[in-house]
Amino acid sequence: MQLEHAIVLVTGAAGFLGSSISERLLADPSVEEVVGLDAFLDYYPRDRKEANLAPLRADRRFRFVEANLLDADLPALLGAVDGVFHQAAQAGVRASWGASFAIYTDCNILATQRLLEACRAARTRVVYASSSSIYGETRKIPMHEDDLPQPVSPYGVSKLAAEHLCVLYTKNFGVPTVSLRYFTVYGPRQRPDMAFHKFIRAAIEGRPIEIYGDGEQTRDFTFVSDAVDANLAAMERGRPGAVYNIGGGSRVSVNEVLATLGELLGRPLDIRNMARAQGDVTHTYADTTRARGEIGFAPRVA
Ligand code: UGA
Repeated sequence: MQLEHAIVLVTGAAGFLGSSISERLLADPSVEEVVGLDAFLDYYPRDRKEANLAPLRADRRFRFVEANLLDADLPALLGAVDGVFHQAAQAGVRASWGASFAIYTDCNILATQRLLEACRAARTRVVYASSSSIYGETRKIPMHEDDLPQPVSPYGVSKLAAEHLCVLYTKNFGVPTVSLRYFTVYGPRQRPDMAFHKFIRAAIEGRPIEIYGDGEQTRDFTFVSDAVDANLAAMERGRPGAVYNIGGGSRVSVNEVLATLGELLGRPLDIRNMARAQGDVTHTYADTTRARGEIGFAPRVA
């Protein structure tokens, strides 16, 4: 699908990835309109999301709809839409246990299924934000798309279920879906519950930094602009039904992250080791061969 003259819907447009994708789309004058949808789930405060939205709202080609995918009039919303960047979700690996799981099944699984149903008639293209958390505690790294997914968090289970739904809607009804398994995305507007945001804020404010476990866990941290590139490439060139790993290409431990942060600040950090968090995987590392070969993905920020 060409983005030139396209009308696109971005779900979760007020969030970290949704607002970053919307911003990039609006920077391309050939994109006709960006419809941003967000329900302002209370996982983190609305004022941060409003701040993400502010520059978008200033653009005449941006139309914002405050609605929840669970009860929005999706056929009406999708009317002239050519493609959907589906970023809306209840986020958070470590918060998905207990009674809050109902929010994950509603906002991640059911909401995605409603969206896919609405995309059936017009076979609207969908790029779905999946997650490295679907792999779970695998011993084999790098992680390959064909590895057996074994999520260790309820969040990972919900993201995997929605990914499977995307594949099913391609196979059964010809809805062109592409799933991107993001590997821990960081950068401007990162969610306030995520490691880089928490670490940097605590360091600046002189508060203790809490590490879950010994800090030797590693992540294939991915810079947000690379994740945005991947979304645009997936919309334009992704193979219907495909699943692609999207990783930054460097596997770094939490301890290494904090050493770098300490160097940049030029002073020692006040680090506290806490208990390991339930649902956290030990290592992630993406094999991005498929995304490189099929959509030309090449991360530019190490
Ligand atoms: C992130 C996102 O939060 C998920 O939404 C996303 O689906 C997932 O990446 C993914 O790649 O699939 P996570 O890897 O836990 O999950 O990202 P961070 O919150 O940035 O945590 C990175 C590492 O820092 C983890 O090992 C975590 O245990 C650690 N951490 C985090 C701490 O030691 N202390 C903290 O205060 C926060």
